[in-house]
Amino acid sequence: MSMVGGKFCLDSIRSYELCIVGNNGYEGDFVNEEEVVLTKEGAIARILINREKALNALNQGVMMRLDQIFSELEADVGVLVAIITGAGQKAFVAGADIAEIGEAGDNRTELIRKGQAVFSRIRNSSKVVIAAINGYALGGGCELALACDFRIASESTKLGFPETKLGLMPGYGGTQILPRLVGMAKAKWMIYSGEMITASEAYRIGLVEMICNNESLQEEASRLAMKIASNGPFAVKTCKRAIQKGLDLPLEKALQVELEEYDRVARSSDAEEGMAAFLSKRKPNFKGK
Ligand code: CAA
Repeated sequence: MSMVGGKFCLDSIRSYELCIVGNNGYEGDFVNEEEVVLTKEGAIARILINREKALNALNQGVMMRLDQIFSELEADVGVLVAIITGAGQKAFVAGADIAEIGEAGDNRTELIRKGQAVFSRIRNSSKVVIAAINGYALGGGCELALACDFRIASESTKLGFPETKLGLMPGYGGTQILPRLVGMAKAKWMIYSGEMITASEAYRIGLVEMICNNESLQEEASRLAMKIASNGPFAVKTCKRAIQKGLDLPLEKALQVELEEYDRVARSSDAEEGMAAFLSKRKPNFKGK
C-alpha cells in the first residue's frame, strides 16, 4: 500500500497512482489501465471497458480512466472518431457499480456528480464517439451510450434504466438526455418501470441508430468510423460543435451559431482541398485545418 493525495492505493504492475487535481474532481484515486483499454489505429481510437466479471460496471477506477482517456484524446489531433465497447459477449456496461454506490453512503451524490462530469466531457468531446453496444446497457451503461454521438447495438442487446428497482434514480444524465432523444413519455415509461427493452424496440423508439448481428457489431462500428474519418476532420468537428452548441438554444440563436461555425469551415484549408479534389476528380488530402 502507498499513500497518494491523502488516500490509500493498492500497488500493482500495470496500475499506477494519479493525483489529478482539477480533472472532474478526482484526486489521488486509483486507476487501473487494464480496466479501460485504449488503442489507436490512424484516426480511430478504440476504448474497451474491461471489467467482464462485473459486467463492465462503472466503478470509480473506470470513470477516472475514461476521464483521463477523453482528456488525452482531446489533445490528439490525429484522432477523429472513438468507439466505446464492453469486454465479453454479455454486457456493454451493466450500470454504475452498485457495490460502490452502496459503500459510498453520504458521498453518493458526490460520486455521481463526478461521474456526470466525466460523461459531459465525453458528450462535449471534439471527437465523434460511437457506442458499440454488445449486450446489457443498463443504468449508467445506457447513460454512457447516451453520452455518445451514435449507438450501434448487437441484436441480443438489452437496454434499460433499472435504478428505480434499486430505490435509486439515473444520475449520469438519464432523466435529461433520454427524454430529449426518445420523447418524454417513452423516457418516463423506461425510467419509472425499470423494464429492459430489446435492441429492436430501442431502434424503433430512436434510442439506437443501428442494429446488427452480434458477430458483425465491431465491424459495423469500424465501417461507420472509417466513413466519418475519411471526411474533412475540421468540418466534422465543427458540425459536432455547432450541433452541441445549438441544441438548447432558440432557433434564431442556433442559426447564428451555425453561421459562425460555417464561417470557420468556409475559411479552412480542408474546404479548399475538398472542393479542389472534387473538381479535379481525385481523393482529397485533408489536413484537419
Ligand atoms: N454493479 C456491480 N456489479 C454488477 C453490476 C453492477 N451494476 N451488474 C452486474 N454485476 C456483477 C454481479 O454482482 C455479478 O457478480 P458476482 O459474479 O461476483 O456475483 C456479476 O456482475 C454477474 O452478474 P449476474 O450474476 O447478476 O448476471 P445475470 O446474467 O444473472 O444478470 C443483469 C445480468 C440482469 C445485468 C444483472 O447483473 C443486473 O441486474 N445488474 C444490475 C443492473 C443495474 O441495476 N444497473 C443500474 C446500476 S445503478 C446506476 O447505474 C445509477 C446511475 O445512473 C449512475
